[in-house]
Amino acid sequence: MNIVHGHKQFDLINADVTNHCNARCFFCFNDWEEFKPFNMDIPTFQNLLRLLPMMESKDFLISCWFEPTINPQFYDMLDLLPEEYRSKMYFTTNLVTKIADSDIERMCRANVDHINISLETYDPADYEVITGMKHTHFFENLERIAEYGRKYHTDFHVITMLTKRNAAYFRELVKRVHEELAPSVHEIRTPFFFVEQTASKPELVQELLTKDEIKAVREDVDSLGYTHLYWDTRFTKENFEKLEKNPEPHRKASNRVHYQLRVNADGTARISNQKYGKQFDINDPDIIGQLEKELILLQEREAADYLVKEEGLTVQTRRSDAPFHFDNVVLYDDRFLFIRGWTMNEADPAHEKDSERIAVLECGGRRIISQMRTEQRKDIVEFFGNPDMRDVGFTTLFDLEGMQEEPFKLFSGYLYEEDHRAEILHQLYDSTSGESGWPAEPAAPAEHTSAADEKAVQEKDGGKPSGLLNRLKRVVKRR
Ligand SMILES: C[S@@+](CC[C@H](N)C(=O)[O-])C[C@H]1O[C@@H](n2cnc3c(N)ncnc32)[C@H](O)[C@@H]1O
Ligand code: SF4
Repeated sequence: MNIVHGHKQFDLINADVTNHCNARCFFCFNDWEEFKPFNMDIPTFQNLLRLLPMMESKDFLISCWFEPTINPQFYDMLDLLPEEYRSKMYFTTNLVTKIADSDIERMCRANVDHINISLETYDPADYEVITGMKHTHFFENLERIAEYGRKYHTDFHVITMLTKRNAAYFRELVKRVHEELAPSVHEIRTPFFFVEQTASKPELVQELLTKDEIKAVREDVDSLGYTHLYWDTRFTKENFEKLEKNPEPHRKASNRVHYQLRVNADGTARISNQKYGKQFDINDPDIIGQLEKELILLQEREAADYLVKEEGLTVQTRRSDAPFHFDNVVLYDDRFLFIRGWTMNEADPAHEKDSERIAVLECGGRRIISQMRTEQRKDIVEFFGNPDMRDVGFTTLFDLEGMQEEPFKLFSGYLYEEDHRAEILHQLYDSTSGESGWPAEPAAPAEHTSAADEKAVQEKDGGKPSGLLNRLKRVVKRR
């Protein structure tokens, strides 16, 4: 097991340089009643850029929910982007407003990872119905951005909403986008909906497609043989009708919290995870310290959410041959041990419904039991070519606060809620040997590591104490 040592950072920073838009697309998830138009100013944008080192390796959305080109300083902001982060940034635009040649050039020259262009149709009459725009510069902007894109090798992604309005000519639309813009990704979405909000928009409800209609469009488009298409067509007319009747369907246990920082145009910010929300101001001189502190607090709460109460639990051991694979093991902030991996579902079929996968950490006579939350793993399902495989991915999290510097063992198994019994099937990791899997000898896992084992390890490691954190740190690759 390779443990990486890191500080918790944001998986994604999602900002907007305005809180408004110049179009009114019938599918838009924004609620325009809520906002008074406001543009971010340059000093606030500079403060936003100070947060970049707090971002995990990937995503910084300069503009996401609203329309950046209505902020007259947007192009100056692009010029300010630090060179080393440009490849992690992107923004989305509707290209509705009149944009000077020099500004289109600045967008393409910005050398960000990609520019998302929203493009629903090439038909001017449909364009007017979809976006609510009688007069638009969209089509001429599109031509010019394609031209500058070729000059600066800009990577375009196109987002197209598939609705009744454009379904009849969708194949031609995708073909034309490919020929004229050559996007590296063309994302095709059916509009996400929020039941109450959508129900109050009959113009959107009547545009939703059925599952079969979507399937027919997809088959037609797939015959083009393109490999750059990404379909997100989960939202169907049937889903909407079902949810309208029953707005609160049963939800499965949620995945790991996504540590996303949402920054509004006025500089207010929130860490948007599912449960906890505190407002920050990115213009506060101490914002980085505040956010770092909050990330620790959130991890603490998240680990507490993973924790399984142990009272009255019977723990049994049974060996299993099914392998466990770890894709990602990180010790965050010297305290939170996070594991992501996958394995086959092996719960006792008779109890499958009321069982929960668990991970058990034994250390110094203390035992911590955490849930292993299910994570969808398309990659694994595709690799095995078996669509029936389900629930193979998992994540788990331990808070090691107060843990002694002692050897530890990590196990996994199932918790059967019916009889409050935990069945341990796998040994995941033994810090005294540094190995995964059950040890060859003895056949059954020892309850605790003996003093002799510990001494042997100390000798192997040159006599250094082999405590928990020391052990973890030794196998760490600093990033
Ligand atoms: C909210 S917009 C903001 C950016 C910009 N104003 C634009 O539309 O290009 C971001 C992206 O979300 C898409 N979008 C809007 N409403 C949506 C919905 N209900 N479901 C899925 N995507 C939606 C838009 O088409 C656009 O590509
Ligand atoms: S252009 Fe974007 S933000 Fe504006 S209304 Fe359309 S989808 Fe919404």
